[in-house]
Formats: sequence, C-alpha cells, structure tokens
Amino acid sequence: MTKPPVGGNRTGRKLGQKVKKGKLKASSRRWLERHINDPYVQRAKLEGYRARAAFKLLEIDEKHQILKGARRVIDLGAAPGSWSQIAANVTGSTDEDIRVAAIDFLEMAPLPGVKVLQLDFLDPDAPQKLIEAVGGTPNLVISDMAAPTTGHQKTDHLRTMHLCEVAAHFAVEVLAEGGHFLAKTFQGGTEKELLTMLKQNFRQVVHVKPGSSRAESVEMFLLAKGFKGRRASETRDAEDETVEAEE
Ligand SMILES: C[S@@+](CC[C@H](N)C(=O)[O-])C[C@H]1O[C@@H](n2cnc3c(N)ncnc32)[C@H](O)[C@@H]1O
Repeated sequence: MTKPPVGGNRTGRKLGQKVKKGKLKASSRRWLERHINDPYVQRAKLEGYRARAAFKLLEIDEKHQILKGARRVIDLGAAPGSWSQIAANVTGSTDEDIRVAAIDFLEMAPLPGVKVLQLDFLDPDAPQKLIEAVGGTPNLVISDMAAPTTGHQKTDHLRTMHLCEVAAHFAVEVLAEGGHFLAKTFQGGTEKELLTMLKQNFRQVVHVKPGSSRAESVEMFLLAKGFKGRRASETRDAEDETVEAEE
C-alpha cells in the first residue's frame, strides 16, 4: 500500500533541515528546504524512483487500478522518468520488446524498456512518432505535463490546461477499447467541453488529488477510465449529425 512516509527516514538525512542564508533568493531557499525535507523525495531516492511524482501515480493506481493489465503505455511529459519506470515495470517492457513510449522536450536519461522522444508534444509530428515508438495500440495514456512557469499564474494554468486538452484528444485517437487516460489538471480548471468529451468516450471520469500531491498546490489529476472505443464514438458522431440535420 502507498502510505505517506512518516517522521524520520532511512536515507540517513534528517527532516527539518534548514538551508543557510547565502546567495540564494529567499523563495529559492524556501523551495530547497521544502525539497530536502520532503519525505516523498527521500522515499523516491530510497526506492530508486527518479522523482517523487512516482507516488502520485502509485496512489492513484491503488484506488483506481489503472496499471493492472497495462500492456502498452504512452507517457507524456515524462522527464525525469519515474512514471516511465513504473510503466516499464508493469508492462514488462524491454529494449527487445518496447512497450513504453515517453516524450518530453527536456532531455531524459535512458531507461531500459522505454523509447524516449525528446520533442514537444505539441509538435505536429509528435502523435505519429509516439504511436510508432510504442509499437502497438496503447491501453494507457498518462500525462504529467505541466507548462513551464512564466510567473503569471493565469497564463501558466491556461497553458497546462491546453496540454491536458490536447493529451485527451490524443488519448481518444490512440487508446485501445477499455483503456485509460490520466492527466494533470488544475482545481476547477477542467473545461466543461473537455469533461463532456471525456464522458462521451469513457465509462467513468473523475478528478483525483493524491495525498502525495502537495496540499498547497492546485494540481489535480483527471482520470478517464474504460475507453468505449472509436467505433462507439464514430456512431455517436454520426447520430449527433443526424439529430442536427433533423432540427
Ligand atoms: C512534472 S514533470 C513530469 C514528471 C514525470 N511524471 C516523472 O514521473 O518523472 C512535467 C514534465 O512535462 C514536460 N512538458 C511540459 N510541456 C511539455 C510539452 N509540450 N511537450 C513535452 N513535454 C512537456 C516538462 O518538460 C516536464 O519535464
């Protein structure tokens, strides 16, 4: 079970450490203090994960079982790679039989069983390259993409919401029937049209805030489970067009 880490730690580093006042700006010092004292950061180190984000995916999975049965996974905004590590593990992906494709515009150190594309997901070539890289129809699309911060909160939110929307449309294009889609979003940020589109295409759509997602952060995850399949959505589109034509 993914329990929040408690109290001390086994990394040999004490919690509650302070960073000396020096050249760092106060805000950077606060960030660094929070980072080195974060029990999830320490646990990630201990368990060999590249990022504390691993625990968000594991916690969501604990409640919603999205990793069980994952055969091929596309990981959007993957660097430094902890979600890809988990995906490679659950799919049994190897360099000889790749089952995980990851994309990030930042460089990501290679991972066994993961085909890494260093590319902007919004690049028009990205969808096709991802499909080729994963080597078959994926049944899980996960996105932890967050737009680089500009310091203007509203702009940052809008950019990340846009990434979530593009990822959702991509998922509907590529997923196998019964597959799942998970993406980072913001509290109160999911557009009604996006929710409607997901509800039309998936059996269940929920917002999730894992305990390992910092309480002060407005980050949330949007989980769409049980893709109904493209034939179902094409039939619905045709029906919608007929209704419009009849009106
Ligand atoms: C929170 S981090 C992902 C952490 C990752 N899930 C892990 O477990 O290691 C978000 C990532 O999204 C990437 N990203 C943001 N916008 C992107 C885009 N348009 N295309 C590709 N990657 C993007 C960032 O570069 C960043 O590495």
